Amino acid sequence: MDSTQTVLVKSKDPQVVEALSNALSEVEGYRVIYCENDKTAVRRLNEIEVNLIICDLDEPLDEHSSALIQARLSHSGCCRIVISDSKNMAEGIALCERTASFLYIAKPFDHKQIKIAAKRALEHTELSRRHRILSRELKLSLDDDMFARADNKSVQGGISQFERLVYASPKMAQVVEEAKIAAKTNMPVLIQGDTGTGKELLARAIHFNSDRINSPMLNQNCGGVTADALYSELFGHVRGGFPGAISDRLGLFRAADGGTVFLDEISEISSHFQIALLRFLQEGEVKPLGSDITLHSTVRIIAASNKSIETMVEKGTFRRDLYYRLRGFLLEVPPLNQRKEDIPALTDFFVEKYAGVVGRRVLGVTSDALKRLENYSFPGNVRELENEVQRMVAVAENGGYIALRHLSEKIATAPIETPENGAYFPAGATLKEKVENLEQAVLIKSLAVNHWNQSKVALELGLSRVGLANKIKRYELRKEAGRV
Ligand SMILES: Nc1ncnc2c1ncn2[C@@H]1O[C@H](COP(=O)(O)OP(=O)(O)O)[C@@H](O)[C@H]1O
Ligand SMILES: [Mg+2]
Repeated sequence: MDSTQTVLVKSKDPQVVEALSNALSEVEGYRVIYCENDKTAVRRLNEIEVNLIICDLDEPLDEHSSALIQARLSHSGCCRIVISDSKNMAEGIALCERTASFLYIAKPFDHKQIKIAAKRALEHTELSRRHRILSRELKLSLDDDMFARADNKSVQGGISQFERLVYASPKMAQVVEEAKIAAKTNMPVLIQGDTGTGKELLARAIHFNSDRINSPMLNQNCGGVTADALYSELFGHVRGGFPGAISDRLGLFRAADGGTVFLDEISEISSHFQIALLRFLQEGEVKPLGSDITLHSTVRIIAASNKSIETMVEKGTFRRDLYYRLRGFLLEVPPLNQRKEDIPALTDFFVEKYAGVVGRRVLGVTSDALKRLENYSFPGNVRELENEVQRMVAVAENGGYIALRHLSEKIATAPIETPENGAYFPAGATLKEKVENLEQAVLIKSLAVNHWNQSKVALELGLSRVGLANKIKRYELRKEAGRV
């Protein structure tokens, strides 16, 4: 790896250039680039990675072309030093403050002084860079502990994992296959699916399976934000770019350069913002609010929506050209009740996760309780299942199983699908399980229809009263549970 640090010096003053070249040539591992004016300095800044920029305030400050302001705005990892004549000291110090520069130095200066300053500035830059990376890694590893380590391989029992996404259904397996292909490209990805189906988790998995893994993935929710605020979050702004913009902001598109930006609730963006986003997707150009300078970014966009964008296009509320750009890959995550095979896998996964979090031992979920979970429609999808399991783990006895009595009321009392009320096929792996499920469904239906009059039910189903009572006990049927 090239560890050479690049210092960019902007000055027309021959004395400054000479002093700096003397000072910096004595220190190993620096590459020094000299620029006479702001224009070339900005160009160089955008061409190469600069670690330290030293700017001489030897020309009147031009807000729009100042390399220092530019560096502050869009190269947050680049350290800044301001120098000026002593007669311009006040202006130099003001600029130093405004651009959050590391140091201000007045001319004339001693070459040892500038050498130490440059060394310290570069150390400072490197430390902040490491701090950023370590904080990110620490956050990720904490998340990993919470989520159990994913190995992307098929684990036992037909359960698979794609990063932190757990699944067992053929439908999700298909989505994950497509996501893995998408991950290897730089194309935008549009993920559609109901709230709580795991769109954000899928977006993260794509990022971590792409070669952008060492760059950040930054998220922006597009819902409930004004067009201007969204623009400045993503494209950045310069101080005074709009009322209330008291300092420059590096937008997400530049901050995540080389990585991924996840745009959640993309259906909510205004028609005005749709144009800006389209232009960004076409040209990769970023123009901070209130700035004339055009910068570039190579982030990959992953967008998510719980509404069908195609329907919005047909209604004329979403630009067709933007839709086509966004869906380089179009991934549709089905609702949980269309992939019930995932319910046992997810339940086990969440039991382990939350038992670990609260430090208790849970042996598992009884098959009766699991059946009820599989029967429930989960309008809130995986998020709702996760909340349910978290709650069950909290109320279960330490060292015991999660059983029917630990289920929340709405799941325990949800109508059970029966042969009469729709496309019913008993769940269960073995014939015995299927038969038991069917038996349970028939009992619940008959009990409900007969308002729990057990004599009537026994008669209707050709059972003895004791036989019926035994079955009710065995399946832990409760009066409310059978309401149809
Ligand atoms: N397949 C899955 N495996 C593990 N956890 C999941 C899965 N799908 C969703 N989750 C969890 O459910 C919650 C909601 O997922 P999220 O990605 O935020 O959904 P969405 O963005 O579609 O609303 C999160 O806590 C997430 O970790
Ligand atoms: Mg979400």
